[in-house]
Amino acid sequence: MSLRTFVRSRKLTGALAVTSVAALSVAGVVASTATANAAAGCRVAYSISSQWQGGFGANVTVTNLGDAISGGWTLEWDFAAGQTVQQGWNGNFSQSGARVTVRNPSWAANLGTGATVTPGFNGAWNGSNPAPTQFRLNGTICTGNISTTSSSSTTSSSTTSSSTTSSSTTSSSNNPGGPKVDNPYVGAGVYVNPQWSRLAAAEPGGSRVANQPTGVWLDRTSAIHGNGSPTTGTMGLADHLNEAEKQRAARADGQLVFQFVVYNLPGRDCAALASNGELKADEIGRYKTEYIDVITSIVSRPEYSKLRIVPVIEIDSLPNLVTNVSPRPTAVANCDVMKANGNYVEGVSYALGKLGAIGNVYNYIDAGHHGWIGWGDVVAEYDNFYASAKMFASLLGKNGATKDKIHGFVTNTANYSALEEPFWTVDDLVGGRPVKESATWVDWNDFNGEVGFATAMRAELVKQGFDSSIGMLIDTSRNGWGGPNRPTAKSTATNANDYVNQSRIDRRHQKGNWCNQAGAGMGERPKAAPKPGIDAYVWIKPPGESDGSSTQIPNDEGKGFDRMCDPTYTGNVRNGNNLSGALANAPVSGHWFSAQFQELMANAYPAL
Ligand code: BGC
Repeated sequence: MSLRTFVRSRKLTGALAVTSVAALSVAGVVASTATANAAAGCRVAYSISSQWQGGFGANVTVTNLGDAISGGWTLEWDFAAGQTVQQGWNGNFSQSGARVTVRNPSWAANLGTGATVTPGFNGAWNGSNPAPTQFRLNGTICTGNISTTSSSSTTSSSTTSSSTTSSSTTSSSNNPGGPKVDNPYVGAGVYVNPQWSRLAAAEPGGSRVANQPTGVWLDRTSAIHGNGSPTTGTMGLADHLNEAEKQRAARADGQLVFQFVVYNLPGRDCAALASNGELKADEIGRYKTEYIDVITSIVSRPEYSKLRIVPVIEIDSLPNLVTNVSPRPTAVANCDVMKANGNYVEGVSYALGKLGAIGNVYNYIDAGHHGWIGWGDVVAEYDNFYASAKMFASLLGKNGATKDKIHGFVTNTANYSALEEPFWTVDDLVGGRPVKESATWVDWNDFNGEVGFATAMRAELVKQGFDSSIGMLIDTSRNGWGGPNRPTAKSTATNANDYVNQSRIDRRHQKGNWCNQAGAGMGERPKAAPKPGIDAYVWIKPPGESDGSSTQIPNDEGKGFDRMCDPTYTGNVRNGNNLSGALANAPVSGHWFSAQFQELMANAYPAL
């Protein structure tokens, strides 16, 4: 596992001060409270994507038929039968009595004439679930066409009234795993891996977290069958699924998410050594037949059809083809090879196509983290953000990886980037200048946390052709940053570096550091729908499993020794030549690292 930053190191000369694309504006740049222009009209399509006893998912496509809106939009409607919004995306939802109000997300305050936004939500209903008959955009009643669709009927009218939906109500007892829901984490438990749970519970104080759900990593072909390794133990994929089915059946809601990590690409982890894999750069055939096809044949068994199965697809692969290839100064020869032979794109699209064809599978693709691809720029050589989104979009249509097979993306997998910095933003001014430009920690990154990054990446991915209903996951297993060194307030320093360094909760030496970080703690506990557009906070990396050995340790897993895991290493161009910040005495990646587990508990935030 490696998650590397591309340090732009753009020197702070005026001549190079090209501003990032406005669409990527971060919080504060566009204030949603600003006075909005009046909207003279709008068109709304209200679509119930799925409905089950007591619950439903809906998307609302709103097109502005009036003047361009530049300072924030508000959409309102009334529910006629007591329905309630449980969780929304692509907008900030609130409800007072029957009245639902959706305000623009901070990253999408503008709505040009003819432009469309697509807020959506999961709701609850009781008795009946008629569609709203009237919508207002910035206070103006939508007089354009209002249409209402459901899985079983479509009605439309050209006046302000609309027919109600007659969506079929799917009984959840016949097929609890389906039909696919918008957010598989809502109304469901998540699989607790008994093997990780045992290791965690055996640590002093570990029982406080041992019942948390963590990812099951299929980090080599033998892990599909259970290879007896210290952490993956003897349980293979089918054993885990059998256990997951038991956990599901024991739940009152009968719903369980099973998370596993697909992580075995040819030439894996091309920019680092700690998690190099078993397949050589050109062994794409073996990846397909010995790995993905075998996984697919197990996951598709009818006995698992009631589970909501979430594969997290290939950590650290595609962004490496953007940031760590020639002619960038951060280029690594192995990444050039993987870009040239196309086997990352081939393998990832093959996995998406095969797994996505299974009715109860929800694919999430790994999308790095803000400290790696949070730099968006109109200048190609400084742009990681848009280029990565385009790289993901290049998967679409290949090997059956159509957009209906991609449910979302996951950020921060096995990394340490904080969700949000509570005390400062990259737009804060110190000496009249935004710290984005002047503080070394930020170094022109557009973000200082994963929530902002994941939200903006989600919007960009939709622009690049992914479905507007995609959701994001954020791995919070090790991004807590509590403990004694956590700042408690914004710094009052008057130079940018001190200001940021004293204010930030992420205590790494540099954002490119990724291996066994000293000072880190467990982060937010796994949670469904924590923010609009974010399907869940998840613990994909099982806390306590090493990122890589701090000295060379011979092994038969294909794992190399990466000096980013050596605490004495003073770094390279990919971490701005900083100390690695890694803990000493670490075992090979994936192996149990008791001292790290203890430190992660001690520094947990929220505290345990
Ligand atoms: C390792 C895998 C391991 C995973 C989860 C990765 O860094 O390479 O072997 O399964 O972490 O701990």
